[in-house]
This record gives sequence, structure tokens and C-alpha cells, in this order.
Amino acid sequence: MTEARDATPGDVPRHVAVIMDGNGRWAESRGLTRTAGHRAGTEAARAAVEHSLRRGVRALTLFAFSSENWSRPAEEVGVLMQLFVRALQREVGKLIENGVRLRFIGDRSRLAPQLCDGMRRAEARTAHNDRLDMFVAVSYGGRWDMLQAVRRLAEEAANGTIDPAAIAEDDFAARLALGDAPDPDLFIRTGGERRISNFLLWNLAYTELYFCDTLWPDFGPAEYDAAIASFGERERRFGRTSQQVRSG
Ligand code: FPP
Repeated sequence: MTEARDATPGDVPRHVAVIMDGNGRWAESRGLTRTAGHRAGTEAARAAVEHSLRRGVRALTLFAFSSENWSRPAEEVGVLMQLFVRALQREVGKLIENGVRLRFIGDRSRLAPQLCDGMRRAEARTAHNDRLDMFVAVSYGGRWDMLQAVRRLAEEAANGTIDPAAIAEDDFAARLALGDAPDPDLFIRTGGERRISNFLLWNLAYTELYFCDTLWPDFGPAEYDAAIASFGERERRFGRTSQQVRSG
């Protein structure tokens, strides 16, 4: 890890969720292949993990591959899957050193057995860590997530272990992929688009949204600090008035 810089004033978000957009454009603008862009994106993801640790962020969720990304050209899907496998092989030791607990969220039924094995092993090897929870969303979609939670509740209702009339928000949230994590405080999307794109649809209900034009491979510590600083300036009211918030 590189040397820590001055702490950012204001509150540090406990949980940051990121859509890492712009790898392809970053590469194309340099006359490189999209594969090179995704490789550079992997380096930026590593830097974001390191800076999260430096700033005291407790959970980081990275959107690495969406349900919709399956419709990209087969060659690009293959490249991304290979990158994930290699990143797992290469990075897990470093994550353990840094106290990072790694978890994957998404529909694993569509993933290759080799990748699933690597994911399970990495999760097991990092399970005891408690400095930073890192969630990597692979084959993930917010609608898929809500549907699988609904299916689980429906099964429990059908076998009599839950009373449908008593199902509360917490029961639903607990069955989502991020079940035991706090909702993200800050959402960051790089690459210029202002969309949620089927990311954590339920969990982002009260999250502060931050969009920037920086392409993901260029998103370094200074850009991350700017997002954290923007978060520190927001007043989070959760439906209350400013006066109520100020008087605690
Ligand atoms: C979006 O850029 C990025 C992706 C679909 C893949 C994200 C993957 C990584 C950053 C690498 C791996 C991460 C981990 C955690 C191992 P894009 O291809 O949509 O870019 P474009 O909009 O410029 O075409």
C-alpha cells in the first residue's frame, strides 16, 4: 500500500458501492483493446480497496459484472471471467494481509465451476477478516436479487416457517444478497452515465448518489477523496426535516 495522505474532513461513509464504468472508453481513447481497459480497471479496483482501508471505510461493494453484461460479445465475457479468476489467484494473499473479508454476490448458477470454486475458496480463506468487507457483484442484478429474496420468502411461507402477514422490511432485506451488511451510504458511478443500472435496487433507497465523468481506470485516491468529501457535505434526512436532523 502507498503512504496515507491527510484524512478527508467530514464523515467517512461506512459502506461505499461502486459502478466501475468506463474501462472500454479508457482503452479505446488510447488505441488499446478493451481487454487492456479491463486490466487497467482491475488495478483501479485494487487501488480503491487500498484507499477504502486508508480512509476507514468498513464495506466496499464493487459491481464487476451485471446480469446484463452476459449479452456482451462472448470473447469479452470470456476475458472478464479470466480476469476474475486471475485476480482471485493473485490478490487473495494481499487481502488477507490487509484484513479484508471477501464475499461475492450474484447468480452463481451461470458461472463456470472453476470460477465458483475460486470464489468459495477465497471467501473461506478471508472469512475471519474484519477490517473491510469487500463485496464483489458478479452476474448480479438488483431485480434478480429481489426475486431470489421473494422466492425464499415464498418457500418459507409455503412450508409454514414464516407468516406471510407478518413479513416486514427487515425479513425481506435479510434475504437479499447483502443481507447482513448495512445499506450503502455512498454510491459512486464513474464514466459519465447517471444511472443505477440494476445495481442494488433495494439497498440504495437512502444512499447518497455521486456521479463523475472520470473513467474507471483513472479513478484514483484523489477522485475517491472528492466523492467522500461530497458525501461529508450532504445532509442525510431519511424523510425527516432539517430541523429534526439538527436537533438529533
Ligand atoms: C465497465 O466498463 C466495466 C465492466 C463491465 C467490468 C468491470 C470489471 C473490472 C473493473 C475488473 C475487475 C474487477 C474486480 C473486482 C476483479 P465498460 O466496459 O462498460 O466501459 P465502457 O462503458 O467505456 O465501454
